[in-house]
Amino acid sequence: MTQSRETSGLEKVLAARLADRQARSQLRRLTSFPSSTADFSSNSYLSLQLVPELRQAYISLLERHASSSPTGPLFGSGGSRLLDGNTPFAESLEAQIAAFHHAPASLLFNSGFDANVGLFSCVPQPGDIIVYDELIHASVHDGMRTSRAAQRIPFRHNTVMSRGCDKDQGPGSLERVITDLIQGERGEAIKRGRNAVFVAVEGVYSMDGDIAPLEQINSCVTRLLPAGNGHIIVDEAHSTGLFGDQGRGLVCEYGLEDSVFARVHTFGKAMGASGAAVLCTPVVREYLINYARTLIYTTAMPLPGLASIKVTYDFLASGKADVLRANLRNIVTRAHELLLAICTRHKTAPELLHVDPDVPRSPIIALLTGQPRSLATYCQQRGLIVRPIVAPTVPKGRERVRVCLHAANSLAQVTALAQAVEDWVWHHKTAETIPTKTRL
Ligand SMILES: Cc1ncc(COP(=O)(O)O)c(C=O)c1O
Repeated sequence: MTQSRETSGLEKVLAARLADRQARSQLRRLTSFPSSTADFSSNSYLSLQLVPELRQAYISLLERHASSSPTGPLFGSGGSRLLDGNTPFAESLEAQIAAFHHAPASLLFNSGFDANVGLFSCVPQPGDIIVYDELIHASVHDGMRTSRAAQRIPFRHNTVMSRGCDKDQGPGSLERVITDLIQGERGEAIKRGRNAVFVAVEGVYSMDGDIAPLEQINSCVTRLLPAGNGHIIVDEAHSTGLFGDQGRGLVCEYGLEDSVFARVHTFGKAMGASGAAVLCTPVVREYLINYARTLIYTTAMPLPGLASIKVTYDFLASGKADVLRANLRNIVTRAHELLLAICTRHKTAPELLHVDPDVPRSPIIALLTGQPRSLATYCQQRGLIVRPIVAPTVPKGRERVRVCLHAANSLAQVTALAQAVEDWVWHHKTAETIPTKTRL
């Protein structure tokens, strides 16, 4: 007889694992907030969802398509890109994306997750090595895990040179890791260029909002791997739309288009859409079409998704997003000023609240605190949506409330957020427990 769902052994095991997470305050939950709240959480940095012209362009494009092709697919794509899911629209969008980012070619994926998994799982060949920033995104880990690379080695976050980097405490610098590789078992094959070394980094790291030193990374890789077998892959998820001229990304900002092997631009953050594109050479594109399982074995992105990406690129290329980027810059500077001033005024202990004194270049500000859930709940109860980020998403001791700023955040919202954080700090210093809003 089949066991009922409630009593099956598997259900008990799963429930116990969840209870364990709950006991460690690490249980993940789906949440949603009313639209009347102030958004300091989403990755929609440019607030493009609020631009009426963009909404109208999207609707018009869909209407034009629906009337010019009344029997063609509108909601779905009909299959994988390799079977019935390909369209001239998708191909011309890829050409537009490649041209915008000064890349020879691009290939669309349904998400950034799929793009990273597809790329990292099939491009490294047997014997190749992947060196990655220790904070690289989970999707790169999943891709690397299924790749045929001989080794996957982390390097210390954003640390290129060995100076001041103690190898006994965690991963070594990028220079140290590559130097060790050259002196190790595979050294000869690497020096002669028979095995490739892939270096995986992000442009902007989403938890601290800090930026990869791409120029130094590139110099280090070309200096240590002169045979041309060092291949840098940059995940531009959090830099797309924000950095570089008209939002072309960090690689373009630094003029490294011809130096990096591939870039992953995702559309679910500042671009306010979803999906991703890998920028690469035509050969790599063709290789991905043949080997990337996350492209081959999935239904291609349908027209509504493609259209949203197209109108967003048109908008960026028109220069109309420049003013949004300027607004965002002002909001970030003001928010940082206010939040940092709280630490100074209250001389907060680092375990209560710490804000990095450097003005952030990205729209992400980390409020480091030992009590991220308490601080986030306090703000949420006041309609200010921020998220607590706890281990294992960030290392233990680096828990924080993550503040994401947006072009459409008003100065009043930013002031209200700073006020709520300051109230929380004040209550915490003067009372044992943080009062909830209902008790105030
Ligand atoms: C750095 C980074 N890479 C890749 C992804 C995945 O992108 P997507 O949300 O489009 O799957 C994300 C987002 O979660 C990310 O932050």
